[in-house]
Amino acid sequence: MVDVNGQFGGFTGLAEPKFTAHFTPCVEIGWRLRKEFWGKGIAFAAAQQAMAYAFTELKLAELVSFTTAINLRSRRLMDRLGFSHDPNDDFDHPDIAAGHPLRRHVLYRVFA
Ligand SMILES: CC(C)(COP(=O)(O)OP(=O)(O)OC[C@H]1O[C@@H](n2cnc3c(N)ncnc32)[C@H](O)[C@@H]1OP(=O)(O)O)[C@@H](O)C(=O)NCCC(=O)NCCS
Repeated sequence: MVDVNGQFGGFTGLAEPKFTAHFTPCVEIGWRLRKEFWGKGIAFAAAQQAMAYAFTELKLAELVSFTTAINLRSRRLMDRLGFSHDPNDDFDHPDIAAGHPLRRHVLYRVFA
């Protein structure tokens, strides 16, 4: 995504996680914006479009989203988008070393 001046602001999109976990294979939705683009609803609007594409065009039954447990900003976005969180789905990310503070992840799901 870019702003009116053509400045790159970040991305929102769909991906298939490459690691194996109890919820894979699956399609995830993710986002990463430059900080000056936060707090304007941009990620929310972009994610809504990606979700519509996933459910209407790709006809997926489910999308997941995950983040490190302490990433409250990303979790708030998942809540706003209508994702639900079951603590039983939480997991240790296999690509992050044991003992690392960011290893514990929360999984959110939304259904078509
Ligand atoms: C996660 C991330 C994308 C969230 O960005 P964000 O701007 O907070 O998310 P939203 O687009 O939903 O915007 C919500 C904020 O915009 C405000 N807002 C302003 N206009 C709005 C509108 N028209 N609609 C919705 N929200 C609006 C909301 O009030 C809210 O503000 P607040 O944070 O002060 O409560 C961003 O923090 C980020 O890129 N983080 C770094 C990367 C990262 O952590 N990615 C996830 C890794 S798994």
